[in-house]
Amino acid sequence: MQQKLINSRTRLVGLFGNPARHSLSPIIHNAFLKSAGIDAVYLTFEFPGENLDEAFIGAKRLGLIGLNITMPFKENAYKLADTKDARSTAIGSVNTINFNYSTSKSEGFNTDVDGFVRSLEGSGFDWGSSNCLILGAGGSAKSSVFALMEKNIKKIYIYNRTAKKDEKIKNSYPIEKKMKIEILEGLEGIDPKSMDLICNCTPLGMDVLGVSGLMPIPDEWDLKGTLIFEMIYKPLETRLIIKGRNEGARIIDGLDMLINQAASSFKIWFDIDPEKKDIREKLIDYLSNEN
Ligand SMILES: NC(=O)c1ccc[n+]([C@@H]2O[C@H](COP(=O)([O-])OP(=O)(O)OC[C@H]3O[C@@H](n4cnc5c(N)ncnc54)[C@H](OP(=O)(O)O)[C@@H]3O)[C@@H](O)[C@H]2O)c1
Repeated sequence: MQQKLINSRTRLVGLFGNPARHSLSPIIHNAFLKSAGIDAVYLTFEFPGENLDEAFIGAKRLGLIGLNITMPFKENAYKLADTKDARSTAIGSVNTINFNYSTSKSEGFNTDVDGFVRSLEGSGFDWGSSNCLILGAGGSAKSSVFALMEKNIKKIYIYNRTAKKDEKIKNSYPIEKKMKIEILEGLEGIDPKSMDLICNCTPLGMDVLGVSGLMPIPDEWDLKGTLIFEMIYKPLETRLIIKGRNEGARIIDGLDMLINQAASSFKIWFDIDPEKKDIREKLIDYLSNEN
């Protein structure tokens, strides 16, 4: 479909984050907008945290359709939203804001949960009989645990370098759900064969100083037959993914999650399931031509 030129009626959707300039969300959402024939653009806004309140109110006053919220603003934006859906309430953070101009309310959502579920659904994953290992206890770990609980997963093991944080996730659930979570003090002695899903929710392996080329699991683990869910998408091929692929694991990479959570945000703003075909190729093409 031919996209209109940007004109005086063109509306705006924004991404707030810091950093935000590295984000792939504009590529995804502008492609979604184009294929849906919607006269709007999606742009990133990077600013210091102390300006979040003013920027949030400003976005509403200026008539933006909505926002995506990324690190480190997800918890503070949650506090700023007038209403919150059940998932964001449970997790305490939002990644999507819809400005509802008929009610004058800013509505907060967390589509990371949906993105996680949709990414796994495509893999034929059997929720009810699976043991999952979650590495990390930050925002993406919280969303992943919440998604697994919603799908009535058999058992969740969480390992995080800071013990208090994983305990906090466990303690946020009522007793019958809490019983499904076991906190690991370390990964030594764990048999990877007992884990049907291993999900990396840490930045270990990400393309940034200090963690680049690192692995969130012991090198000696054999990943044959396991499903690896890698949250990181820069680089697309982390050491964990390369190891998993070489050893015969199935892989879900960070782009799957990114595209699926974006599709859920788009649905909230426009009530349209966006066309996801070709997006993955567009992103790979963009990443390989970056710099
Ligand atoms: N594909 C997607 O759509 C998507 C969505 C969300 C996130 N992500 C990616 O997922 C990763 C995690 O994001 P997040 O939002 O969950 O981050 P976060 O809230 O900052 O949490 C990071 C977690 O990783 C742990 N960690 C950080 N540095 C570590 C290190 N050097 N060694 C061991 N553990 C370390 C932290 O442990 P402590 O508690 O001890 O600090 C924390 O539990 C990032 O790479 C992010 O880009 C991707």
